[in-house]
Amino acid sequence: MSWYDKAIIYQIYPKSFQDTNNDGIGDLQGIIKHLDYIKDMGFNTIWLNPIFVSPQVDNGYDVSNYFAIDPILGDTNDFSEMIEKAHRLGLHIILDLPINHTSDQHPWFRDAISNSNSIFKDYYIWHDQVDGHEPNNWGSFFGGSVWEKNPNDSKEYYFHLFDKRMPDLNWKNPEVQKSVADIAKFWLEKGVDGFRLDAFIHIAKANLEQNSLLTDQKFPIDDTFYAKLPAVKDYMSGFVKEIKAFKPDAFLFGEAASAKARDAAEYTRPNENVCDVVVNSDNFGEEYETDPDIPKFFQSRKLSLDTLKQTYVTWESVLEKVSLPTLTWGNHDISRVLDRLNLPVENDKVTELLAMMLFLQRGIPVIYYGEEIGMHGLKYKNISDFDDQRALDLINNLRSKSFDDQKILQLLNNQDEMTARGPMQWDTSQYRGFSKKRPWNWAQTDTTSVNQEIKDPNSVMMFYRELLRVKKHECFTSGTYRLLITDPKIYAYLRRTDHNQGLVVINFSDQSKTFELPKGDWSDNLSNEKIQMNDKILKLGPWGCCALESKS
Ligand code: NOJ
Repeated sequence: MSWYDKAIIYQIYPKSFQDTNNDGIGDLQGIIKHLDYIKDMGFNTIWLNPIFVSPQVDNGYDVSNYFAIDPILGDTNDFSEMIEKAHRLGLHIILDLPINHTSDQHPWFRDAISNSNSIFKDYYIWHDQVDGHEPNNWGSFFGGSVWEKNPNDSKEYYFHLFDKRMPDLNWKNPEVQKSVADIAKFWLEKGVDGFRLDAFIHIAKANLEQNSLLTDQKFPIDDTFYAKLPAVKDYMSGFVKEIKAFKPDAFLFGEAASAKARDAAEYTRPNENVCDVVVNSDNFGEEYETDPDIPKFFQSRKLSLDTLKQTYVTWESVLEKVSLPTLTWGNHDISRVLDRLNLPVENDKVTELLAMMLFLQRGIPVIYYGEEIGMHGLKYKNISDFDDQRALDLINNLRSKSFDDQKILQLLNNQDEMTARGPMQWDTSQYRGFSKKRPWNWAQTDTTSVNQEIKDPNSVMMFYRELLRVKKHECFTSGTYRLLITDPKIYAYLRRTDHNQGLVVINFSDQSKTFELPKGDWSDNLSNEKIQMNDKILKLGPWGCCALESKS
């Protein structure tokens, strides 16, 4: 067993966590300030969104220097201080490493476009124009074509899956594999405990000389040509072998947004040198409303308990003997769970139930900063406050279909990712204790705050703290998982080891429910209400949940 099999991950968006120099942007000193808080809450691992030098076109995912900290966040001394204090507290730190692309300001790319004999030319993906046009019709995830003209040679294009200022690396080139491994080793030497490997499933591309047959857009987004291709595993293996030879217990946590359970198994098979675990973006059991006029990403969603059970059981069965699933309600690429789902979340019991049902399953919890206090996303006042490309496209698209601006604003406030990247709410002061200056990303917030919740034994924050304590019990960390057959509105599962067993019962409804207990000498560990239980029957009120334990 490795340390990361027991990881409970806290995801921090560094620009939004705590500002200590009052420039309105969070920084590493801000993270250092709250390491004790993170430890006290029961987390043992921190994932930081990218902190390297970056023009910030994509909030740090566009790196121009991988060997230094972006000055808006701090410097190498702050970094060493952060690692030293985190390790002293028993916390592991993993860095987000964008490996699919660099910034167009990276010296490799600058050299590649300005020097005809550049040794870095082959670090990127190029193609001559075809009939005066882009080489093919493939679409970028950020809109438009994946091709952009070489600024110094208008007959040649370079490839970018994301923004045009983020050119893709050519992983076919062994020098690229080696150079990225050197970056990883540099930070491992500085004490980091692993990496989130950003967009690794995209590092292999199909033959460029073919078009997508999808016809929904001029430049359709078509994973067939650039996601999960067989060469991903080949390219990763040399790179990962080098990392693991350097630091065998480095934790590799791969971002595989579109992975299904079988892909996750492919990428996490022990000793195959790809990843230790992967995180995808749709294993939450969410169902989209089907309004054909609204693009999928912005549709409102409801949480279906049936789908959640079905999805989890699929992941669990496929990964059972392979690796641990990751358990997450959200991240920086999606609006916050309390805004996104159509649930009565003004009731704290619902927030607590969501946490218990997900995180006590077999797997590694990944909790997005603020979730542990039941924080909602930012609420912007006007649609003109949204300036990212996806939001702008939505606004144009829906206005052309005569949607009124209020409706568009509501969709954006409920679903756009920028709402999830607001300042952490430490207290109730003007900028919520995040900064004295107006934060870089700011709009109306709710009144939730750490300072208030810490004083209230019934707060969401105190529930989370207890929940993470329970998660560390052997049965909830390493026990087997079994779904119990119940009333469709109840989700109950058993986690079992040789010594003891844990039972989680969730009443996903606004009616009281009874549940027949399996054999055992059950005692109450944690619940979000006062539960009623005898030897055989457990009674839960509306949205009630509890975790019980017994000897096996
Ligand atoms: C996935 C990251 O989570 C997202 O924020 C980023 O825009 C893309 N990868 C590109 O790096």
